[in-house]
Amino acid sequence: MIDPRWRLDGQTALITGGSAGIGLAIARELLGLGADVLLAARDPDALGAVESDLVCEFPASRILGLACDVSVPAEREALFDWIEDGGHALRILVNNAGTNASRAAMDYAEEEWRAIFETNLFAAFEICRYAHPLLSRHPASAIVNVGSVSGLTHVRTGAPYGASKAALHQLTRNLACEWASDGIRVNAVAPWYIRTRRTAGALASHEYREEVLARTPMGRIGEPEEVAAAVAFLCLPAAGYVTGECIAVDGGFLRYGF
Ligand SMILES: NC(=O)c1ccc[n+]([C@@H]2O[C@H](COP(=O)([O-])OP(=O)(O)OC[C@H]3O[C@@H](n4cnc5c(N)ncnc54)[C@H](OP(=O)(O)O)[C@@H]3O)[C@@H](O)[C@H]2O)c1
Repeated sequence: MIDPRWRLDGQTALITGGSAGIGLAIARELLGLGADVLLAARDPDALGAVESDLVCEFPASRILGLACDVSVPAEREALFDWIEDGGHALRILVNNAGTNASRAAMDYAEEEWRAIFETNLFAAFEICRYAHPLLSRHPASAIVNVGSVSGLTHVRTGAPYGASKAALHQLTRNLACEWASDGIRVNAVAPWYIRTRRTAGALASHEYREEVLARTPMGRIGEPEEVAAAVAFLCLPAAGYVTGECIAVDGGFLRYGF
């Protein structure tokens, strides 16, 4: 018999940025554990294609997508109207959608760095607040925020991205304490370089890639599925006493002083 502590049967998860990269890998991982998934991303065509693929792969699960730009307040509101109207009993929220524009600090236009915070931090906070009344209807629910090693130490992402992810990690700790009595665990993951479309450009440079690998004790780039596995663990009943934590998925990067 399968131990129910390692299953998510009957649980509905909302994954922002679920149509590609880490978010799509998270969707597959949670579906494999028996969850139903709601996906939000901006491009409706990409979302529709992913929805069809997942329906073929997981015919027994409910899989629905809604085109939504999480950085737009009215679209966040519409996302939760859609969830409520659909009668979805939300148990898991994964705040995964994120953005960046990497520059020297003095080169950002004000609206540009504010936009990074809007997607990476303000949207995540607002979505947590929209989700709270739904998640707290159940005795045990989970939020996982996709942070970054750049929120824990300097990496060459540009200051606004690192600062927004650092704030997301602290938001995770604050909400974990505030919402523990509501039955909501709140955790984060902090990936280092993961093979997705967003890192493809930088890693295409042989020289840069070698520099990254030299800073990574495990000597390789991470896979989206490796982040998804950590996210899934944090969602599972097996992690029932884990809250306010941040799991680095970084091949040892953060532990490597020299
Ligand atoms: N890849 C890495 O090395 C790495 C490392 C550390 C942290 N992270 C974090 O991991 C998360 C996912 O990154 P990824 O590498 O998987 O990126 P990705 O492959 O580019 O996928 C991003 C996903 O988010 C969606 N998205 C982007 N902006 C959105 C918005 N405003 N509203 C709704 N959906 C949005 C995209 O779809 P649409 O474009 O159609 O909206 C797509 O589904 C981000 O938070 C990122 O900061 C990534």
